[in-house]
Amino acid sequence: MNVDPGHAGLRLRALLAARGLEWPAEIEHAALSPSTNDRLKQRARAGAAEWTVVLADAQTAGRGRQGRRWSSPPGNLYLSVLLRPAPPGARWSVLPLATGLAVAEALAAEGVESSLKWPNDVMVGGRKVGGILAEATSGADGLESVVLGIGVNVAVRPPDLPADVAPTVTCVAEELARAVDRVEIASAVLTRLTVWYHALAREGPQVVQAAWRARAVPWWGRAVEAQSGGRRVRGIARDLDEGGALILELEDGSRTVLHSGEVREIRPARD
Ligand code: BTN
Repeated sequence: MNVDPGHAGLRLRALLAARGLEWPAEIEHAALSPSTNDRLKQRARAGAAEWTVVLADAQTAGRGRQGRRWSSPPGNLYLSVLLRPAPPGARWSVLPLATGLAVAEALAAEGVESSLKWPNDVMVGGRKVGGILAEATSGADGLESVVLGIGVNVAVRPPDLPADVAPTVTCVAEELARAVDRVEIASAVLTRLTVWYHALAREGPQVVQAAWRARAVPWWGRAVEAQSGGRRVRGIARDLDEGGALILELEDGSRTVLHSGEVREIRPARD
């Protein structure tokens, strides 16, 4: 891996400082990394401090949720951040939602209004602009660390991405019709993430859930189809539970709770 601790890493630290945040841990920058999540998990195992960040200009083995690959050419944002939540407890399961929220807020500050699609896709006009890959490590006492991997399509135009994803994605530069600074976006995301992390520790998951719902794709009360853990479920999207899982009401009136998966709205057929 080509690790360059300077440049984008130093710029990110300076931009965070300009926002009033003395970043408490190392910010590692690589021009090219297989996957910033894999790199940070390796660093976490070696004892890296909470809030260690890995930023890459491009990835050769970027990973998405559900075992998918995350196409990672230069121009987009590839960022991972390490948290070591204490004390371990159920409240931290909403961290991926808090991260999606931080991305949506960072984009709003840049001028792009986005919506959050459960579990944590960031959408603009029905097309994906960002995603989160949260990977937790547990020990005998419960949760030890979480690597939050953040991918934002900043400057790579959809036609320059693989044909299977191109029709379903957009990028910030295209939405704004101007060039965008991905390190600036990274600093806004990290700033908002610190805010939600501390709010979560202080006030509990409800505060994150309420803010997440306010930015969510308005599915509540609508029919959706979910692909989760090898099964396909149809139901009415009702709410999030305490841990951020999606509550669906099934045809027979019973409720089921989804902890992961893909969800799409089922639109009634038109005549
Ligand atoms: C998704 O499927 O929506 C999640 C995509 C997460 C991609 C990011 S890019 C930075 C980090 N490193 C990875 O390999 N994946 C995440």
